[in-house]
Amino acid sequence: MPSDSLPTVRLVGIGAALPNPCLHNDDLSQIVETSDEWIWPRTGIRERRILPPQLSVVDLASQAATQALAQAQVHPQELDLILLATSTSADRFGSAPQVQAALGATRAVAFDLTAACTGFVFAVATATQFLQTGLYRRALVVAADVLSRTVDWTDRTTCVLFGDGAGAVVLEADTAGRSEVGTRASMPQVQQGILSIELRSDGTGSELLSLGMETEARPLVGSLEVGQYRCRPITMNGREVYKFAVNAVPEIIEKSLFRAGISAEAVQGYFVHQANQRILDAIAKRLEVDPERVASVLERYGNTSGASVPIALADWIEKGRFGPGDLGVMVGFGAGLTWGSIVFRWGK
Ligand code: ACO
Repeated sequence: MPSDSLPTVRLVGIGAALPNPCLHNDDLSQIVETSDEWIWPRTGIRERRILPPQLSVVDLASQAATQALAQAQVHPQELDLILLATSTSADRFGSAPQVQAALGATRAVAFDLTAACTGFVFAVATATQFLQTGLYRRALVVAADVLSRTVDWTDRTTCVLFGDGAGAVVLEADTAGRSEVGTRASMPQVQQGILSIELRSDGTGSELLSLGMETEARPLVGSLEVGQYRCRPITMNGREVYKFAVNAVPEIIEKSLFRAGISAEAVQGYFVHQANQRILDAIAKRLEVDPERVASVLERYGNTSGASVPIALADWIEKGRFGPGDLGVMVGFGAGLTWGSIVFRWGK
């Protein structure tokens, strides 16, 4: 489809869900040898939320989705597509159809997408393609993760970083307004909705962050062996992830801004994956933007993996710091390695 016939894809509603139980750094010091004095200056995290065992990723995702649909004034049955970005689903066959059922979104096709902390950005990019081709009109993208269920609570190098949460956005194709996603050639006067998308992967760095399975060989019958999976907790090379993030993220933000024809100063809000405050500060410095424009909810929620970008966006929208007509950049980075940046103008 030629770019001048692409429908505009607007972000029209947002929601977030954070479970109530709160785990403070001081609580963690009773579990592992750590302290608020160690965690806070290195990460910007003071507390994180923990999903109670009787609740699931689907409950958390559905709560965020319900809020986003209400804000967008979209009925669940008006949805054509639901994407659930998660790395911590209880059912590895996928949980998005359970979210569809919980919402009563009977017309929507629903499937999971896994790209760790970049999952939300990749899912928004994927949904945008369905809407731009004209196949679908309305999509819901939910990112939900419960890393508390996957960390080793005896490993102080990882368990202090993560928290649970979900965030969701509703996207709508507007065939009346046309956009020029990713082209500078003939930009419309006021660009709306999704303005540019840049995505990357580099599997050579897959060892830096992993939520893997071990394969154990077991005899099955006669001399035939079969492999059996056993879940491993998160492993991370923190220093290398830091180096990757502070190099790759500013570069991809600059590329996406260039494609959209927008300067870094024109952006009201940068919604960057909430891994670590030092990473957010380094990115602001590299881009030469006011750190106040880089959203941070790390202090209250820690690293909520794929959910962190929509949680940060929802927080700013709720506080009135970001609103209809504002220009934003959402950026994910993490395991895979994967990273991506989307420039957008918020609202209908
Ligand atoms: N409490 C107290 N001491 C700790 C803790 C802790 N929670 N964790 C590690 N230490 C100790 C280590 O054992 C080590 O002690 P030693 O010198 O006696 O061996 C010392 O502190 C330094 O350990 P490092 O791992 O080198 O700590 P570093 O200064 O690199 O900080 C951190 C760790 C904050 C994770 C840092 O590497 C970082 O900012 N990484 C960026 C990546 C990131 O934030 N990842 C989050 C998830 S990934 C993602 O979302 C994409």
